[in-house]
Amino acid sequence: MAGSRLGWQPDGPNLVACCDNLPELLALPDGAFALAYLDPPFNTGRTQARQSITTTQTAEGGRRGFKGLRYSQQVGGVSSFDDAFDDYWSFLGPRLAQLWRVLAPNGTLYLHLDYREVHYAKVALDQLFGRQCFLNEIIWAYDYGAKSKTRWPAKHDNILVYVKDPANYVFNAQAVDREPYMAPGLVTAEQAARGKLPTDVWWHTIVSPTGKEKTGYATQKPEGVLRRIIQASSNPGDWVLDCFAGSGTTGAVAAQLGRRFVLIDQNPQAMAVMKDRLGAGSSAAPIRYYDCSS
Ligand SMILES: C[S@@+](CC[C@H](N)C(=O)[O-])C[C@H]1O[C@@H](n2cnc3c(N)ncnc32)[C@H](O)[C@@H]1O
Repeated sequence: MAGSRLGWQPDGPNLVACCDNLPELLALPDGAFALAYLDPPFNTGRTQARQSITTTQTAEGGRRGFKGLRYSQQVGGVSSFDDAFDDYWSFLGPRLAQLWRVLAPNGTLYLHLDYREVHYAKVALDQLFGRQCFLNEIIWAYDYGAKSKTRWPAKHDNILVYVKDPANYVFNAQAVDREPYMAPGLVTAEQAARGKLPTDVWWHTIVSPTGKEKTGYATQKPEGVLRRIIQASSNPGDWVLDCFAGSGTTGAVAAQLGRRFVLIDQNPQAMAVMKDRLGAGSSAAPIRYYDCSS
């Protein structure tokens, strides 16, 4: 296998790169990755931005909280990236073609979008992989924020799952975190205690604005959603690729589960958040950072 511009090697360190992903994908070798998770910009037509706010308990704080404790808030930097494309499919299409190429023969692609582009994506991926390679459409349902009064409020994302070979792919049903039955009275006590395998509809909270998982990066996805994906569709030691990596959720979960990873994002703010979140890795699984602009 040829090396990549990033210097990817099958027995090399985990990689995090601040680069446009297309040239990097072109330079990665065929068949290297067991799993690719993609969470590209959704083409919302807006700039995605989030301001970081740190809350500290102090005697003089201006905000009053639980049990009368007082808090002060420090407003930090704004992380943002552009999410408006004149021709979204001329942007995403060539990247999807490369992702198909770098997937292992038994590899799996998860493409995370929402209602704006998912139907076009299904058609594009059917053409690229073949319709028989479509495995699932996962609905990630959540419930937060303002709700429209003029139509049904859109409170879910769509994750399309394609395998390169429908006769030979990884799906570790028994490794996935189980969830409580909705009607535990209808199953045996033993089944209720064990919980059920999640279906293709995943109710999962967004990243809590006050929880320890939060990095402050706009559009950060919950580790719980990535945990299911990585548990089900890869094995320990496998290589996982996320070329729209943002805050590095895929890398954080891959490391927890003993997988290796390549993360790419062109936004320097994403790189800064990933360095903070992932650090240098462990001695057994170090991380090499790479910046295309330097
Ligand atoms: C929806 S966010 C990903 C969020 C991520 N899943 C997380 O949990 O934090 C999409 C990311 O794609 C990045 N991006 C957009 N175009 C890119 C490109 N051509 N190459 C690399 N990254 C790109 C943006 O900078 C942004 O961080």
